[in-house]
Amino acid sequence: MRQGLGGTGRFITFEGIDGSGKSTQARMLAERLRAEGQDVLLTREPGGSPGAEEIRQLLLTGDPDRWSAEAEILLFTAARRDHLEKTIRPALAADRIVISDRFADSTRVYQGATRGDLRATVDKLHSLMIGREPDLTFIIDMDPETALSRGLARGSGEDRFEDFGLSFQENLRHGFLALAHAAPDRCVVIDGNRPPEAVAAEVLAQFEARA
Ligand code: TMP
Repeated sequence: MRQGLGGTGRFITFEGIDGSGKSTQARMLAERLRAEGQDVLLTREPGGSPGAEEIRQLLLTGDPDRWSAEAEILLFTAARRDHLEKTIRPALAADRIVISDRFADSTRVYQGATRGDLRATVDKLHSLMIGREPDLTFIIDMDPETALSRGLARGSGEDRFEDFGLSFQENLRHGFLALAHAAPDRCVVIDGNRPPEAVAAEVLAQFEARA
């Protein structure tokens, strides 16, 4: 499962639509592994390094039409490159477990599949500038209507993508499931329509089974 690039640590990502509960699950797995004495770095995208957190503000606040899909791909990729250089690679090189709340699959689905057919552009930029896949990806699958009402209820002020509406979230869900289907060795789909503790227990079991 390990790729060897960037060190010997393990790189785990959580993906899913807005309000799917993936951030809670990323945190619960990190807490559980830390309680077992493992050295875990919990991080997120967009963000995860000071520069990338600044880019996050540009991306997630303001009008839904603020950026074209192409401009967005460049900004997400710039943020990811900085996150990789400053946070992920050093942690993996120090043999830490890195758990990231979102990574490149989000760009493939949000920018590559839902806002014009830009998947080829996303893939080219990824191989040019990132060139790294996670060792294991949990896709938290969730009913889009419930997820959207949860996401908007948070009122985080970072709702640019939630503001695209329900059919957008439905497209996203199908995009994530298609990715999981295309990369079954790396991706595990987890049913998120259950209490967080039940979801977390399955995540942990899958993590241990693939260690
Ligand atoms: P989150 O912190 O709630 O997961 O929000 C991040 C938002 O940014 C979410 O709506 C998904 C979106 N996003 C993309 O569109 N492309 C990306 O590459 C990433 C990492 C996030």
